[in-house]
Amino acid sequence: MSDMTAARIHKEEPHLIPVKTPVHLEWLRRQRNRPLLMKYFRQTRPITKSQQKQWRKNLNRKNARLFIVAAGGRWIGYVGFNPIDWRHKHAEFGIFILPEFQGGGHGKAAMRLLLEYGFVKLKLHKIYSDVIDYPNERRFEFYRKLGFKKEGRNKEHYRKGGRWFDSIPFSMFKSKSKK
Ligand SMILES: CC(C)(COP(=O)(O)OP(=O)(O)OC[C@H]1O[C@@H](n2cnc3c(N)ncnc32)[C@H](O)[C@@H]1OP(=O)(O)O)[C@@H](O)C(=O)NCCC(=O)NCCS
Repeated sequence: MSDMTAARIHKEEPHLIPVKTPVHLEWLRRQRNRPLLMKYFRQTRPITKSQQKQWRKNLNRKNARLFIVAAGGRWIGYVGFNPIDWRHKHAEFGIFILPEFQGGGHGKAAMRLLLEYGFVKLKLHKIYSDVIDYPNERRFEFYRKLGFKKEGRNKEHYRKGGRWFDSIPFSMFKSKSKK
C-alpha cells in the first residue's frame, strides 16, 4: 500500500461491518497472526484454520458482537464485544487497527462507535478490557484518552514466551461515558 493510500484513508471516518461470513473470519485470522499485532494478544502462536473453525463453533453468538472496522473502502481493523454478560450488563471488548493505519485516529473513532453501540443499543452498564502490561507499555494512553479508568492490577495474569505478565483492567461505566 502506498503512503498516498494510507493518507487518504486516514481522512475517512470508519464504520463497522458485522462479522458474519467465512471471508470475514479468514481475514480476521490472517490479520491476528501478523507478528506486529499478535504480540499484543493473549494468543502465543498463529491461529490455524482448524483452530479458527473450532473457535467459531464454540463461540456463543448471543454473547458476542464482532465487527470489522472499514474506512475508505478498505478493511483496517477489528472491534468487538466477547463475551457479553447480559445478566450483569457488562462486556469485554477487543480492538486492533492494522499497523499501516495506526496513529490516524481510527482506533479512537472505531472505539467510540463501539461504546455508543454498547451503551445505547445493547444498554450495557460497564465495558472493559484486560490489557497485558508489557515493559514500556504506552498503549494505556489510548484507553485513558477515551475515558477508561484503570481498576487495578492482575498480578502475573498471562504467560507469553515463557514469561509472566501482569495485566491492567480498564473499564468505563454508562453514567461516565462521553456518549
Ligand atoms: C491501540 C490501537 C487500537 C490504537 O489505534 P490507533 O488508530 O493507532 O489510535 P488513534 O490514532 O485513534 O489514537 C487515539 C489516541 O490514543 C493515543 N495512542 C494510541 N496508541 C498509542 C500508543 N501506543 N501509545 C501512546 N498513545 C497512543 C494517540 O496518541 C491518540 O491520542 P490523541 O487523541 O491525543 O491524538 C492500535 O495501536 C492497535 O491496534 N494496537 C495493537 C493491538 C492492541 O494493542 N489492541 C488493544 C489491546 S487488545
